[in-house]
Amino acid sequence: MHKVNRWRIQGTSALKNRIGLNNNSRYNLEDWIIEQADIKSGMSILDIGCGTGKQIKAIQKRFNSRIIGIDISLDGLDFSNDSTTLICGDFDQNIISGKFDRILSTYAIYYSKDMLGTINKYQKMLNPNGMLFLAGPADGTNMEVYSIVNSLIDQLGIKVEHRSTTDFLSAAEIEGERVKLNNHVHFDSPKHVMEWWSNHNSYIEELHEQVENKLPEKLSLTKNVLGIKIR
Ligand SMILES: C[S@@+](CC[C@H](N)C(=O)[O-])C[C@H]1O[C@@H](n2cnc3c(N)ncnc32)[C@H](O)[C@@H]1O
Repeated sequence: MHKVNRWRIQGTSALKNRIGLNNNSRYNLEDWIIEQADIKSGMSILDIGCGTGKQIKAIQKRFNSRIIGIDISLDGLDFSNDSTTLICGDFDQNIISGKFDRILSTYAIYYSKDMLGTINKYQKMLNPNGMLFLAGPADGTNMEVYSIVNSLIDQLGIKVEHRSTTDFLSAAEIEGERVKLNNHVHFDSPKHVMEWWSNHNSYIEELHEQVENKLPEKLSLTKNVLGIKIR
């Protein structure tokens, strides 16, 4: 039986490919994060698992802030400037000290080997009135593609190791205010959906053709987001 681990860490090139395809969304994720995390000019900000800097770049467009980004992969860390410092390293390790007004982690914290311990560590690095804002997939995310995949899995005898994306943080019993964004990304052809899926950690190569054949001509893919505000 072929086993697929849905949660392997993907390279930054896969992330770059997905970002291009995710651009056609109803709501802008970065605008939502900025609003929910109540980011303002002059704040000191740390982004853990910053990837190619999608959130950092959006913040810098609107605010004058000092930002530090951490990512384990060097590939995407090519956007430093006078107000941004980038560190290549493991956010589970003690690679940074100091206090911050905002600590962000977007679609990254669940790669931690000790999520609760890591969250606790960064919570202690908040200034008074500071906020750690975690964002990741909420219930229903990608369900249009997953329902097709699931209907095919049984027939082919593929076992998918399923670590649910459903409210990724609720299982970890983290205390904090939860907020949700019900978002959709529009795809105008099955080819583009397949481009997204083949760069996503749920991709199963053996099902490529069959999934593509079952996709509608145009697809709105659910991208619900869960945010947790930890103070
Ligand atoms: C899905 S990407 C999200 C990137 C970015 N926040 C965004 O939304 O575009 C997850 C990122 O977390 C990084 N990552 C995973 N585990 C990590 C760790 N232990 N320490 C630092 N970065 C990590 C990966 O390299 C990847 O860039």
